[in-house]
Amino acid sequence: MKGKFITFEGIDGAGKSSHVEWLAEWLRARGIVVQVTREPGGTELGEKLRALLLNEPMHLETETLLMFAARREHLARLIEPALARGEWVVCDRFSDATYAYQGGGRGLDRNKFLTLEHWVQERLQPDLTLLFDLPLDIARERIVLANRVLDKFEQERVDFHERVRQAYLERAHGNPSRIQVINADNSIDNIRKKLEKILLVNCL
Ligand code: TYD
Repeated sequence: MKGKFITFEGIDGAGKSSHVEWLAEWLRARGIVVQVTREPGGTELGEKLRALLLNEPMHLETETLLMFAARREHLARLIEPALARGEWVVCDRFSDATYAYQGGGRGLDRNKFLTLEHWVQERLQPDLTLLFDLPLDIARERIVLANRVLDKFEQERVDFHERVRQAYLERAHGNPSRIQVINADNSIDNIRKKLEKILLVNCL
């Protein structure tokens, strides 16, 4: 038996992280064993790489290679063993984030992305990706209201984030059965109702 792999994506400020733990609890209430994790990170080494990736300026290809290095470790140590045990994995960001941030945001050559994706994941893709989408100005407002220290990506200019958003939407357009776009400019209750519906139709 193989478990299901569900990922959460969206621009900074889309509010996806607050739904990750809620979804895991919703699944656990249905008797499913769930691992909650995140990228970059998810393993001891991955979390060390995350600290570098979110704070240190570096060459675009170094950034991309480190994202995929953390991902390789994450797949080998956590994601693949959990799925093989029949557990579900709910992951806050995965390769679609590399496509959107390093590809869309920073302009990484698409073939380099595809080469690394194939090398690191072979054919593995999430069973379901929940893409939280909303206009940039609302996302920026949420980040400002949170009033915390911003990481390297959050400090990028509006046009960077607009390119990230468009790359995510383009990726969703190309993968309509895997990626479900959720209007994140909505109440928490409405978003949860939508998530329940998507899960019931696609995964349960
Ligand atoms: P994020 O998931 O938003 O965490 P938090 O909610 O704690 O801020 O932060 C991760 C950042 O890393 C986010 O800005 C997107 C970026 N990122 C990439 O640029 N490429 C990737 O492949 C991944 C996984 C994340």
